[in-house]
Amino acid sequence: DRKIKIAPSILSADFANFGAECEAIEAQGADWVHVDVMDGHFVPNITFGPTTCAAIRKHIQGVMDVHLMIAPVDPYIDAFAAAGADVITAHLEAGPHIHRTLQAIRASGAKAGLALNPGTPASAAEPLLDMVDLICVMTVNPGFGGQKFIHSQIDKVKSLRAMIGDRPVHIEIDGGVDPTTAPLVARAGADVLVAGSAVFKGGSAAAPDAYGVNIRAI
Ligand code: DX5
Ligand code: ZN
Repeated sequence: DRKIKIAPSILSADFANFGAECEAIEAQGADWVHVDVMDGHFVPNITFGPTTCAAIRKHIQGVMDVHLMIAPVDPYIDAFAAAGADVITAHLEAGPHIHRTLQAIRASGAKAGLALNPGTPASAAEPLLDMVDLICVMTVNPGFGGQKFIHSQIDKVKSLRAMIGDRPVHIEIDGGVDPTTAPLVARAGADVLVAGSAVFKGGSAAAPDAYGVNIRAI
C-alpha cells in the first residue's frame, strides 16, 4: 500500500513570490515542494541556484525536493545540501559518472534521486538501484512546464517498479501530470507526482483556491 504524494513544482509559481507560494501550496495539502534548477546548458532554460533554494527553504515546512537539471552536478551538491534540500535529484544523462554523483549526494546528507529523460531506458537505472532513494521518470523532455505527457513512459514506470522490488525507493513522475494522467502512473507504480501547470493553472498565492482544488483533484 503506497501512499501517493503530490509535489507541486514552483516552476509554475510566481517567481517574485516564492515564499508565499510555498506556504500557500503547503497549506492546501502539498506533500513535498518540487524545486526545478535549470542551467541553460543541460536544458534550454534557466531558473535559479542554491542561494534561491536557501531562501525558499525558510518557507517550506515539509520536504524540499530539488531537481537539478544542470551539468556538471558534482561541484554544486554541497551547496544545495547546505541550502536545505531534503532530496537532491541528478540526471543520469548529465555526465559520465552518475554513480559518483549519487555517492556524493548521499555523503552530503541529502536523499539521492536519479532522473531519467524520456529517451533513457529503465535498464540504465538497474546498476544504481542500491544507490538511490528516488527515481524520477521524466514524462516530458525537461526544461519547461506545461508540456504534453509522454505516454510511452508508463511502461518504463512498470519496469522500474518491478526492478526495485522491496527496496525503499520512490518513483516520482515529472511532467504533464494532471487529473487524467495521475491515475495512470499511480497504477503503474509511481508514488510521488510532480505537478506544475496543473496545480498553479496560471494562479498565484493571491488566488489560493486554485491550489486546493487542483491538488485534491490530482
Ligand atoms: C520540467 C520540470 C517539471 C515541470 C513540470 O523540466 O522538471 O518539474 O515543472 O511542469 P508540468 O507539471 O507543467 O508539466
Ligand atoms: Zn522537475
